[in-house]
Amino acid sequence: MTTPDHHPEPFDAVDIIAAKRDRHRLADAQIDWVIDAYTRGVVAEEQMAALAMAVYLNGLDRAETARWTTAMVNSGTRLNFDDLGKPTADKHSTGGVGDKITLALTPLVASYGVAVPQLSGRGLGHTGGTLDKLESIPGWQAQISTQRMREIMRDVGGVVCAAGEDLAPADRRLYALRDVTGTVDCIPLIASSVMSKKIAEGTGALVLDVKVGSGAFMKDRESARLLASTMVEIGQDAGVTTTALLTDMFRPLGRTVGNALEVREAVEVLAGGGPEDVVELTVALAREMLTAVRVDADPADALCDGRAMDSWRAMVTAQGGDPDSGLPTATHTHEVTADRDGWLTHTDALAFGVASWRLGAGRARKEDPVQAGAGIELHTVVGEWVRAGQPLFSLHTDDPARFDRVLASLEDAWTVTGEEPEPRESVVLERIGD
Ligand code: URA
Repeated sequence: MTTPDHHPEPFDAVDIIAAKRDRHRLADAQIDWVIDAYTRGVVAEEQMAALAMAVYLNGLDRAETARWTTAMVNSGTRLNFDDLGKPTADKHSTGGVGDKITLALTPLVASYGVAVPQLSGRGLGHTGGTLDKLESIPGWQAQISTQRMREIMRDVGGVVCAAGEDLAPADRRLYALRDVTGTVDCIPLIASSVMSKKIAEGTGALVLDVKVGSGAFMKDRESARLLASTMVEIGQDAGVTTTALLTDMFRPLGRTVGNALEVREAVEVLAGGGPEDVVELTVALAREMLTAVRVDADPADALCDGRAMDSWRAMVTAQGGDPDSGLPTATHTHEVTADRDGWLTHTDALAFGVASWRLGAGRARKEDPVQAGAGIELHTVVGEWVRAGQPLFSLHTDDPARFDRVLASLEDAWTVTGEEPEPRESVVLERIGD
């Protein structure tokens, strides 16, 4: 019932839920209203849960997905960096195991005079969060004001920080709701969730790293391609130059999984070293970002000549961190060795991600603390030959009671055989976009 003081609501949530349940298209006005009314608390959590499930089962078409995204952007503030005097470019990864790419990529691209507004999240489940990784650097602060973010982008270039409460608030609530209602892995809901935050963040160009494989949301190439092309179209429609790379997440990326361990590896890449796959992907994504903002340069150069490292040091310092202080290490380690001579032919990304999480690198609930030093160091990677007794990987944790369960969970996660595996051609499987 409405009183003279209240504007009547133009729609009823139940009608919208029923329409999607019965496989009808939602009208633009219905989508705008339901997202806005949910943000205002007029649409109840249980109603949005029912609608999310109806969308999960019956989908949204391209136009509905685009409108849903715009409605989520409009639920909060849209940042604008047009007055910065520099182009802006960002990267988003759909999340993987050992994915420390943002750490080296952000300063690398910034070293070419591009501002990188990287609003990141914390890890939930088996994929690590960039903020958790950076917080292993003593003094480093994830929480900074928009004003400070703008200053760092102007003076330093790269900034990695927590998204403010007013950035796509509808997505913040909806994502938490999806997490507890079995509606996370749904292409239109993932695409609109990711893109609403990236559009609201105010970047001019965006490259998406869409992971494919056991350690990723998308287990096969076809669904990864659909997610990538949906996101690319949404970005282009919103005026953000967007491309995507589909990349291999069947095995962990690089040789480390876990917060401080991954920071250490990213610093190796910035020093011109580091594992081949991490370097390849960092350079491929940097190339996409630089091309999108019309900077004609080979990003591999700045990794070799120290410019990217200088940019990293400035970026860490600007957020209170000490780039020269040592990184935390776990109090206990356990080494696993090969039981025979042979080729390492398989390391399962999901199993190693879950193992690292159980060692203490990740959290089960969003308020849980993480251990900075916990994780896994891979001494041997797929395609390498090992002798019996040679170390394959080490587990790191502050809580040794966790070793037995983790070791049991890793029993089928790797294979050493007498047959040499086919070499992997590239970590980048495919490119989507103009
Ligand atoms: N990351 C997001 O931000 N949203 C999703 O829906 C999935 C991954």
